[in-house]
Amino acid sequence: MLQKTLKMAKKVYLDHGATTPVDAEVVEAMQPYFTEKFGNASSIHCFGKVARDALEKSREIIAWKINAEKDEIIFTSGGSESNNLAIKGVLFANKEKNHIITSKIEHPAVLQTCQALENGFSVTYLDVDAGGLVDLKKLEEAITDKTALVSIMHANNEIGVIQDIRTIGEICKRHNVLFHTDAVQSFTKVPIDVKDINVDLISLSSHKMHGPKGIGALFIKKGTELQKQNQGGHQELDLRAGTENISGIVGFAKAVELASDDHVAQMQELRDKFIDKILKEISDTTLNGGREERLCNNVNITFKFIEGEGLLLHLDAHGIAVSTGSACTSQSLEPSHVLLAIGLKHEDAHGAIRFTLGKENTQEELDYTFEKLKEAVKNLRKISPLAK
Ligand SMILES: Cc1ncc(COP(=O)(O)O)c(C=O)c1O
Repeated sequence: MLQKTLKMAKKVYLDHGATTPVDAEVVEAMQPYFTEKFGNASSIHCFGKVARDALEKSREIIAWKINAEKDEIIFTSGGSESNNLAIKGVLFANKEKNHIITSKIEHPAVLQTCQALENGFSVTYLDVDAGGLVDLKKLEEAITDKTALVSIMHANNEIGVIQDIRTIGEICKRHNVLFHTDAVQSFTKVPIDVKDINVDLISLSSHKMHGPKGIGALFIKKGTELQKQNQGGHQELDLRAGTENISGIVGFAKAVELASDDHVAQMQELRDKFIDKILKEISDTTLNGGREERLCNNVNITFKFIEGEGLLLHLDAHGIAVSTGSACTSQSLEPSHVLLAIGLKHEDAHGAIRFTLGKENTQEELDYTFEKLKEAVKNLRKISPLAK
């Protein structure tokens, strides 16, 4: 009985693309900034200085991770705000150019920002191939003398595809167009060196890599003109008004310091075994997104003839947390725009599940997940009108 209870209580978190648990060391680093080090970084007195020192030290750490200069990083409330500021900031600052190029598989924080700009600016939404990659020739052809900005994400949040941002950067440089990339999912998983590749703006977020929620950053290459999007104080290079979230910023920097390549290698190994096992042992399954250019922690599979939501609920009943699409679209019954963009039929897009691994996941957890998954797929197909 006890054993049964323990088994029922098992919890396996496989939704790290939505958010991650905050590391204990991160919480510890943040703690003093709620209590004795509570000062406002803009205050002249010693309380302000303590906060200011922590702010600038944290800025150095984020800059160091992407080989940027300290004054090329500003803190924001997260990836969504960074994307908004990068795109609107560039477009509103540029008086001569009015065209932006993006892709059809961007996160809603980019897509909806671009859609909102359609009233006054022109936007090109590039297609992607079956693996999720942007066609670089089509990108170059889309650039005109009116193009102000190309915004193409580094790694996709649903299917994990990693774009060739080095070549995209070269194309943008050749045509004198600014390049923004949303690196929220890839940050600390795929190296970025801003001195080695041409990129003008990068969006980052803390809560996808074991830092706290509600804090992120935007890399802005020196000399890039940007119009401030929220008015008020002169914080963050006078580009983002508002008292800085020092505890969040300190936590974000600590999470960056703790991120390691060993974790990446470990997740990748578990990911590969998990993908192989599903494709081999569960019939009528396909991997969404290419196998090669893929985030170390992303597994997105279509289980034909069943609804992803049904499968998700079955797994949830066994304590296994996964998602259908991204956290931002999971409240919607519409099939994922990303899966449709890579050519899936509506019913196949509806049968997709995203498993996103984290550094704390183990082989044992994935074996348990596989066992429950196989059982659930079998049961759901028995009652599915779509199954043969
Ligand atoms: C690719 C991508 N961009 C942006 C965001 C938004 O980041 P935040 O939750 O920090 O606003 C997310 C979050 O899911 C994401 O996956």
